[in-house]
Amino acid sequence: MSYQPVSPDEVARATGRTDVDEKASPARVYDYFLGGTNNYAVDRVWAERAEGRYLESGQNIRHMYRSNRGALGRVVEYAIREHGIRQIVDIGSGLPTVGNVHEVADEIAPGQCSVLYVDNETIAHAHSDILLSRTADPDRHRAVFADLLEFDNLWDKIFAEQVLRPGEPILLLVMAVLHFIGDSAGAHAAMAFYRDMLPPGSLLAISHGTFDGATPEFRDLIEQYGQTTTNAFMRTQDEIITFFGDFPLVTPLDYTSHWLNPDPPNVEPWRTHCVVGIGRKP
Ligand SMILES: C[S@@+](CC[C@H](N)C(=O)[O-])C[C@H]1O[C@@H](n2cnc3c(N)ncnc32)[C@H](O)[C@@H]1O
Repeated sequence: MSYQPVSPDEVARATGRTDVDEKASPARVYDYFLGGTNNYAVDRVWAERAEGRYLESGQNIRHMYRSNRGALGRVVEYAIREHGIRQIVDIGSGLPTVGNVHEVADEIAPGQCSVLYVDNETIAHAHSDILLSRTADPDRHRAVFADLLEFDNLWDKIFAEQVLRPGEPILLLVMAVLHFIGDSAGAHAAMAFYRDMLPPGSLLAISHGTFDGATPEFRDLIEQYGQTTTNAFMRTQDEIITFFGDFPLVTPLDYTSHWLNPDPPNVEPWRTHCVVGIGRKP
């Protein structure tokens, strides 16, 4: 399928928002680093400054974001091929332009997987909605506006779309999201709810930034997130594992660039500063 990017004009028409002077948003900064076009001047200024500071120390900031995106594609492939998953809920789906979950899933199991994209950022949600109206199957693919922390509401909303079959295993993707939610905001209670609600045989995939072995430049970058709409909260790998609760890990935590990667880049794994793993509900 030839990919047609969703244009900023289309998103502006859908949301009524244009290039305004506000804070940078991590969702749109991520879009910028992946090479997307749905970011505002304020996002690009923040991103270019962060990238410049990183480059001065000989490090490539885009490697971190792209490695997470690469890992997401492999998570979807692994879940479909190795665990027979056919239902996917992607919380904090963002507005990426490459490797969208429903496209990856349809390549591996054509016409078989339901995918629900969930985000609480207006631009990200509008982007998914437009993307789906263009490339997706409305019987299987939907975009839902909801907040991970309002878990009851989120769960009701995704089932109200009537594309998920109750009781059948789900792949729940929570990729590069939890590090935007601090402990005091209720990240753990929310994840406990989702673990409870998932049917047996479901998979929970989490990627998360970590300060384990972090360079001063990475710590500096995370501090700069304080100037965006959302702070970032790194956790240790031991803390990240607690989000899986009593789900045994079917793939141990590993850095995103190397996790299940048959052809890993020639860069030390820790340079992504982000780990990924999958747990399975017994
Ligand atoms: C860095 S992007 C990750 C995109 C995608 N999951 C990936 O890994 O490629 C983080 C996304 O999480 C979303 N997000 C952050 N907090 C959220 C919350 N409380 N509820 C829903 N989405 C959230 C942001 O709006 C953003 O789109």
